[in-house]
Amino acid sequence: MDLRIHKDLEGLSLEAAQIFFELACKKEKSAPPFTVALSGGSTPRTLYRILASEPYGKKIPWGDVQLFFGDERCVEPKHPDSNYRMVFDTLVSRVDIPGENIHRMEGELEPASAAARYEEYLKKFFGERGLVDEATGMPVFDLVLLGLGDDGHTLSLFPGTRALAEEKRLVKENFVESLLSWRLTLTLPVVNAASTVVFLVSGEAKAKVLKELVTGARGSAPYPAGRVRPVTGRLIWLVDKEAARLLCERK
Ligand code: 6PG
Repeated sequence: MDLRIHKDLEGLSLEAAQIFFELACKKEKSAPPFTVALSGGSTPRTLYRILASEPYGKKIPWGDVQLFFGDERCVEPKHPDSNYRMVFDTLVSRVDIPGENIHRMEGELEPASAAARYEEYLKKFFGERGLVDEATGMPVFDLVLLGLGDDGHTLSLFPGTRALAEEKRLVKENFVESLLSWRLTLTLPVVNAASTVVFLVSGEAKAKVLKELVTGARGSAPYPAGRVRPVTGRLIWLVDKEAARLLCERK
């Protein structure tokens, strides 16, 4: 497991920014654009702020960067809970990226319709550019950024929810009982087709679940986050000391 422990959230976010930058710049001019599925929640805010600031804000070739969303809450884009709004406020509004490079999930629509529309959009965008895994037909993101919930969820793939079992669809509406709300989420087959997947995990609240993920303590019934296993891509865990606190614990 490629697990990298940093002093704090700033430290792990700086490494995530460098990974983003290097992948974005690696693309040849004539190559397809750099495609990223962004994580929601609060942890990645620091990363997005760093990407919008010097040196990255001016060095990243934003015209060649295509920003997608890993998941979305079923709310209007201006709603305080909207992942799109969080990304717009922390990153998009602060860098010179063309509006057509931002591909939001339409959380304001009826969930099943929003999921189907985003799925069709992904198929078209990635299909037209030949960015599809021949074996599975899944779109191949250059980078997928993920967070981790203290219940082991990632994206909006919560334990015991229907979207977890999805093997064919790319995007699913998902009713989350514990939140009593609908979400939109990429499915595991899409995440596991990506070239690079990076988890960003910060804080004491994640220490127990991270330890169980690292030690495989859940065995046959892994957490949703434990089912992120890129078929051919890289999986990197960027965590801070607080989240890693139990990893160093003597047995
Ligand atoms: C979301 C995220 C979700 C998040 C985890 C961790 O839309 O909320 O996609 O999966 O990454 O809940 O959230 P924090 O970073 O706020 O702890």
